Amino acid sequence: MRKQIVAGNWKMNNDLKQTQTLISELKNQVQTSMAEVMIAPTFTNLVGACDALQNSEIEVIAQNMHFAENGAYTGEVSATMLKSIGVNTVILGHSERRAYFNENDELLAKKVDAALAKNMRIIFCFGEELQDRNSGHHEAVVERQIKKALFHLSGEAWGSIVLAYEPVWAIGTGETASPDQAQDMHAFIRKTLAEEHGQDLANNVSILYGGSVKPANANEIFSKADVDGGLIGGAALNAEHFFDIVNAF
Ligand code: PGA
Repeated sequence: MRKQIVAGNWKMNNDLKQTQTLISELKNQVQTSMAEVMIAPTFTNLVGACDALQNSEIEVIAQNMHFAENGAYTGEVSATMLKSIGVNTVILGHSERRAYFNENDELLAKKVDAALAKNMRIIFCFGEELQDRNSGHHEAVVERQIKKALFHLSGEAWGSIVLAYEPVWAIGTGETASPDQAQDMHAFIRKTLAEEHGQDLANNVSILYGGSVKPANANEIFSKADVDGGLIGGAALNAEHFFDIVNAF
């Protein structure tokens, strides 16, 4: 059965002190939950977060990584480095990486392969822009994004993939896809996956929704049949709000 997951993407927020404070607040809020809970602090705070959350229900994950194992890539971090500090899951393909750092489908396919080669789990993000949705091309855009970066993978590799549908127009804007819009897209993604790899595999891949999820709308979004959790930005920076979202399951 596929897993329910709520992951907090902290983006470029929280210095050392703020990270320590938020983590201790999170530890106070955590209860046994139906969902797997993850947080993605910045690179500089990953080691401390892993130490602070050892033996806790909260998994520490990374926001990005490079495809090479090591070498002359100034400013970059590899899967091997992440694994060496106990980080086993990485977010790839976030729309901010695509928009501000020119990450495209081909580069992301390389990152996906590099992460899988090191036995990392991947939360793979994708989603259409507003003009794609307004022109009725949202499904085609999403289909291209997942096919190009992921459809070369074997059935077995899909056991390490979590998908995160994040319509760009809903990220950090306060604008949320309606629960029905999210469900329609998630069902389309699962159908596309089933056509390629069979219904069993498609049924076992978790598909998260991301884009202005907050305590007030999480319950309705998560209640949709093909929505298996959320990737949370802004609301993940507040421990109480984040756990209200986790507890929406
Ligand atoms: P948001 O961000 O919840 O602030 O919209 C979501 C994301 O970018 O993952």
